[in-house]
Amino acid sequence: MKKINQKNFKKTLSKFSTGVTVIAINNQNKIIGKTVNSFSSLSLSPPLVMFSLDKNSSSINNFKRSKFISINFLSKKQIKISLNFAKKNSKWNDTEFFYGQFKTPIIKDCLSNLECTVEKLIPMGDHIIFICKVINVLNVLNNNKVKPLIYYNSQYL
Ligand SMILES: Cc1cc2nc3c(=O)[nH]c(=O)nc-3n(C[C@H](O)[C@H](O)[C@H](O)COP(=O)(O)O)c2cc1C
Repeated sequence: MKKINQKNFKKTLSKFSTGVTVIAINNQNKIIGKTVNSFSSLSLSPPLVMFSLDKNSSSINNFKRSKFISINFLSKKQIKISLNFAKKNSKWNDTEFFYGQFKTPIIKDCLSNLECTVEKLIPMGDHIIFICKVINVLNVLNNNKVKPLIYYNSQYL
């Protein structure tokens, strides 16, 4: 074992493979999306999920203010969407979406989409944990051939 430092911590965490989501909000008609892989399920009853955002993110205040949020699970075909929403001030130009019940942007052709209310924010270290209650779900693709986008070792698989 080696003593932890920032470099080997980052490298070690990169060996944990995850799916990729885009979380999205509609705050006073300004729509913002962000690529996030810190997503996790939290509770079945009530239906809760969580993810964390960097406190220094340029849009953190918009996310902190938002009562509703969509969480979009990306397929392997949506790598461009993931790259786009990992940029600062990313635009929605080419990303096809529609609005959910709470006017959150729901990205088309995802593996699944969740529409949630934001229940609790917990600041922890340099991130804020968002705990969200799932209100609506969409599973467009009842097709097992469509593969998930996976992030592993700082690369898309
Ligand atoms: C695969 C992947 C996963 C990411 N996951 C997270 C995450 O869970 N939380 C987070 O705050 N940023 C995450 N990011 C970084 C943001 O998507 C984005 O790059 C960064 O927030 C952009 O800067 P800004 O937030 O200051 O606009 C991830 C980036 C990639 C490529």
